[in-house]
Amino acid sequence: MSAAEFVPPAADLDGLRAAALGCRGCHLHEHATQAVFSKGPVSARLVLVGEQPGDVEDRRGEPFVGPAGKLLDRAVADAGLDPGQTYTTNAVKHFKFTPSANGQRRIHATPDSHEMGACRPWLVAEFRLLDPEVVIALGATAGKALFGPSFRVTKSRGVLLPWPAAAAHAEDFAREDDGVSASAFALATIHPSAVLRADDRDAAYAGLVADLKVAAGALAG
Ligand code: URA
Ligand code: SF4
Repeated sequence: MSAAEFVPPAADLDGLRAAALGCRGCHLHEHATQAVFSKGPVSARLVLVGEQPGDVEDRRGEPFVGPAGKLLDRAVADAGLDPGQTYTTNAVKHFKFTPSANGQRRIHATPDSHEMGACRPWLVAEFRLLDPEVVIALGATAGKALFGPSFRVTKSRGVLLPWPAAAAHAEDFAREDDGVSASAFALATIHPSAVLRADDRDAAYAGLVADLKVAAGALAG
């Protein structure tokens, strides 16, 4: 099972978003409230890829609107990036969680490779429509979704890579009409949630902003 049979051919973003609500490509839809697709214009110069919606996103139906999203918004602004030119999405579209012991809270659970693979057709369909100058993977899950299972964010963060050439199955991420874009870049950095969990939050935040500034430099150049 995968999302493939639920992705409508030749759909625009709104069509993809609407169809994702009906996706049954893996078991994650069973306990989540709704699929959370993307936000931002299809013409965005910058594409940010996260992991999966969190608790707040699952309820609101929008990506990166909870605590990690607020931190990301601040980091994007501090790096001098234009939020209006940003398209934000996730590697997995339904919230994966385990209930807390008392059943009151939903604790984030990391999607496994099976769930990531099942959901990948949505990400690929998005990239058929997008034409980014810079693509940023936020954290390990996004890094693996874009660059393959052996990609290590800790080793490769902040380094500009050719896009989509550096992607795993690069042909999947090329735009439909022009094949491989000539001069786009990709870059991986830590997930904003990792900043929230860090012992030294200020240092972790500064690291995230520094990586985003590398992306800003690639955009300007
Ligand atoms: N974390 C993510 O990776 N994506 C979201 O949309 C929210 C939190
Ligand atoms: Fe479909 Fe992805 Fe949701 Fe699984 S997580 S049901 S593949 S949208």
